[in-house]
Formats: sequence, structure tokens, C-alpha cells
Amino acid sequence: MCGIVGYIGPKEKKEILLEGLQELEYRGYDSAGIAIIEGDKLNNYKAIGKLENLREKTKAYKSEGFGISIGHTRWATHGKPTELNAHPHLGAYSYVVHNGIIENYQELKVELQAEGVSFLSQTDTETIVHLFEKYYNKSNDAFPAFEETIRRLEGAYATLLITEAAPDTIFFAKNGSPMLIGFDKDEVYFASSDTPIIGKATEVYYLEDGEYGYVKEGTVHLFDSNGSKSFTKQALTADKVSAQKDGYRFFMEKEIYEQSHVMGDTMIGRVLDNSINFEELDENFFEGINAIKICACGTSYHSALTSAYLFERISKVRCDIEIASEFRYKEPLLTKDTLFITISQSGETADTLEALKMAKRAGLKSLSICNVDNSSIVRESDAAILTRAGIEKGVASTKAFATQMMVLWMLTLYVGQEKKSISKEVLHKEIDAMLRTPKALVVTDELHAKLQRLSKRYLHGHGFFFIGRDIFFPLALEGALKLKEISYLHAEGYPAGEMKHGPIALADSELFTIALMPKTMHYDKIKSNVEELSARDATILAISPEPFDLADDFIQTTYDSHPMLEFFEMMVVTQLLALEISVRLGNDVDMPRNLAKSVTVE
Ligand code: M6R
Repeated sequence: MCGIVGYIGPKEKKEILLEGLQELEYRGYDSAGIAIIEGDKLNNYKAIGKLENLREKTKAYKSEGFGISIGHTRWATHGKPTELNAHPHLGAYSYVVHNGIIENYQELKVELQAEGVSFLSQTDTETIVHLFEKYYNKSNDAFPAFEETIRRLEGAYATLLITEAAPDTIFFAKNGSPMLIGFDKDEVYFASSDTPIIGKATEVYYLEDGEYGYVKEGTVHLFDSNGSKSFTKQALTADKVSAQKDGYRFFMEKEIYEQSHVMGDTMIGRVLDNSINFEELDENFFEGINAIKICACGTSYHSALTSAYLFERISKVRCDIEIASEFRYKEPLLTKDTLFITISQSGETADTLEALKMAKRAGLKSLSICNVDNSSIVRESDAAILTRAGIEKGVASTKAFATQMMVLWMLTLYVGQEKKSISKEVLHKEIDAMLRTPKALVVTDELHAKLQRLSKRYLHGHGFFFIGRDIFFPLALEGALKLKEISYLHAEGYPAGEMKHGPIALADSELFTIALMPKTMHYDKIKSNVEELSARDATILAISPEPFDLADDFIQTTYDSHPMLEFFEMMVVTQLLALEISVRLGNDVDMPRNLAKSVTVE
């Protein structure tokens, strides 16, 4: 949530910052800002709304020659999305950008105000710059003043500070929010993830929690609580799987179409002829493990829920699923024979990361399933399996969900193999189905055109119910989440058999039911549930291989002998339905209101 870019060197800094922020804009787009110091010239621009507003505002400004610069794109946490609340925040002669939350900011603010400091914004971030200046005014020495400042902060932060008091230096600190340093010869970059600096820096260092320091004359001076420390850079990929939409209208659309292809990548080297292989897991990884607990948020939570059916049914291992934000405060009973799995597209979701830290403190072995290598969750886990979906830019997660599901499906077979709870025949049957998955995810012109046409009938009403049974219940939850986050229409996912226990009271022609009716799983049961809704005049969109007379609209999927293939095919239908409804409503599909791609706050 929020994005940071920094650069120190001779190049045109404004462009470097704006290009970098463009890459991060999906993380937050309430407002953006930059601050640049060249010699004794200090320039600062901010604009609310999307980055293009900042670009427009800085059109005439050029920043050539050596200088230091920081930029930020914001997703509001403290205070409204206004220009005053946008970063960088100004003191008397210094600027700061920050991701995360300073938990003791109220206390610090009161202290500073009592000393005569006036605050311009409602943010927690502004305390950092005033604290720094308070200490600098006493010592006249910038780095000790910055160190002193960092020592006072509680909470999560990744922060960059520049000051006229040291116009050739960028100060940095990281604790709980991601931050990295990129290098290209004497030039140094900062960013909150690697995408803004790919193609610019050739090497990178991922800062650890508790590290801070400064950069001057191309040299990074790194410290932690034990004092000065050395660090090892690593090569940064040059492959910019970039911002191109490749002719699609939206990243989400592109990402839906990519699913068929990326599923192949997810399986490479893992799905073998007669077995599942994870190089990431050492051979004793499951020794002593009798249960699995999975923790995640949002879409990743839905993939976790689906996998619980598979772990218990296929691997015969007890599996509990927890929403990370609930898990953190419920004082859970954790036993060491439980494998703690976290699932996250970004690897930076604060609640999931904190849940993982809790489990580790309780002595549990941990595994993460994640799309971003070197992310905080990956680094924190004992082992990690990457989903290999490629960069996902649409805020509404699609291909990350598909690849998470694939990894989890493979993992259930792997656990079955390890625990010898799965027969050769079943393993063979599952692998055969797995290899047919990419085909189930192909978006045909006919399907997309049909959903485009049909979407116009679903722009009003008083709500949507996505219903399904078994693994199609979490898919119903996911379908509803996709629709609500980009259409802003009310949608719920429900177990089909549960409608009669309350929600059916809502049924009338303005209640839209999206019925997931796979042929391989409880077809007759769900058919009865949908008939009950139809009898109450609910409008039914049935998704099924089997024609259904009572449906007002019908999307025919493929007859198949495996539920997971029906699952993936129906997943694509629900994604396209959400996309097309959102397009018709004129919404910003890739950057829906009030959301951010990576939720690094509690
Ligand atoms: O990066 P993560 O998978 O940890 O993110 C979790 C959720 O914030 C995320 O899935 C969110 O629900 C998406 N917007 C769903 O499309």
C-alpha cells in the first residue's frame, strides 16, 4: 500500500521518479508527490488523484544535473486524500516519504506541538520530518539526527528523508514495510518493490527490518541496532514484464487471458509423469506434521478455503483456514505438529505477515505460497513455493488466484505422496487432470462476446448471490468479491444449501443468482437449491455444462470428469462477468475506488 521511489545521481530525476511511481501506482492512487534537491534548489510538487495529475503539474519542470530525489504514491490511512496529506511531507528544510503506519504518532505529535511545531497534515508521516528537524536543530549533524528520529518511531515504516542540511544525501530506514536499494555504477535508487528500478539498476539489496542509513557519493552506509554493517548486493533481473497491456483494455483483462499460459509455468518441473515434485521443500519437510493451518486475506483466503476440501479429501490431513486479521487477535491454540501456510499474491499483506510471525514465535514450521520472490512473507517463511503468475497489476486478483489454486492442488498431492495417503491410481488421475488445466482456462471469443452481451442485464437490482457447494462455495465467494470490488454492486457468495436458512427471504426478480452448477459435484443437490430460488422469482444466471430450463441466462461450460477443471472454467466465467459489468458501469477496472493492490496496513 503506497509506493516509494528515490534516486540520487546526475540523471533527470523527475522522470525517474514519475516512471517509477507509474509502476507502483496500482498500490495506491489517492495522491502522489515528489521532492527534489539540486544544489540549493528545492522543488516539491503534489497532486491528488492519479499520477497523470502530477505529471501534468510538473510538465514544465526539468531536473537536470546531480541531485537527490524522493517520490510517493499514496493510499490514504491517516487523513483524507488531499494535497496537504500527500507525501513528501515538509518540515522547515526537509522532506520525507513513508509507507506503513507510525503507531505512536499521536504521542509524538503532542510532544512536538508542545514544543511549538505546527503540523500541516493529518498524517502520521509528518511527525518523522519534524522529529528529524528537532534533533538536527540541536546537533547540527544530519545522520545522528536521523538515527535519533528512527529510534523514536514505533510501528511499520519504510521511509526516505532528504534535507537541505545535507543536499547530497538520502537517509533511509526500514522496519516492517518493504524497501530496497538499487545500484547502477555510482547511481543509487530506492523503491518499495523492484518493478520501478528494473531496467535502471543492475544490482539490488533488499533491506531487512531494523536497517537504516544514508547514501552519499554513490556509497551506501548501512546500520542496524548493532552499528555499522556490510551487505551483499544481488543481481537484479533486467526482464521488464512490464506495464504493457498488449492490446487489452485493462490489465485485469490481460491477466484473465494469461491464465491459461501461466498455469503451464506454475507446473513446470513440479508436475512429473507419476509424481509431484517441489524442489523448494526438503525431503523431511512434512516429518512430524499432522495438521495444516492456512492463513490469508481476500482472494488468497478463498484459495485457502478451497484447498481445505482438497487437503482433507485427497491428502487425509486435517486442515483449518483462518482469515489473517482474525487469527492475529483470537489467541489461537497452536501445536508444533501443525504446518503453518500463508498465501499471498504480494507477499507484503500486513495481516498475513504478522500472522506468520506469530506462528513462528509459537515454534510452528512455516511455508508460504506467494507470487513475489524476496517479498517479506517469502523471506520470513521456512520455505516458499512461488506461484509464477508473473506481475499482477489489476487490483482485482485473477491469475494469482488461479496459480495459487494450482500450487495448492499440487501440494495436496505432494502431501498425499509424502504421507502415503494417496493411491497411485488417484495420483495418476489427478496429474492427468492437472495437465489439462491450461485448456480449461482458455478464453474463447465466443465466451467473452456472450458475457459482454449478457452483462447489460446485470447492472441494477438489489444484489447478487453467487452460490455453489463444496469447492464451488469458495469459488462463489471469490466470484462475489471480484464483482463487488470492481462494479461497486452488492454481491455475496453463499453455500447453495444455506440459502434456505435466511437469504432466500431476499429472493425476487431483482435478486440476481449466479449459480455454479458443476456436473461432477453434487449437481442434483445444487439444482434443487436453484429451483427453490427460481420458484421465488429470483433471476438466475446458471453456469453449467448441463442445460438448465429454469435459467434466465445460461453459460454452458465443458462436460468434464474432474471437478477442478470445472472449477477453473467457471472461475474464468465469473471473472469475465465482473469485468464486463464493471466496464459497462464505466468504472476504473484496474484501480477500483478505495482499494490498493498491496495492503501493507493492518
Ligand atoms: O497480496 P495478497 O494476496 O496477500 O492480498 C490479499 C488481498 O488483499 C487481495 O486478495 C484482495 O482481496 C484483492 N483485491 C482481491 O481481488
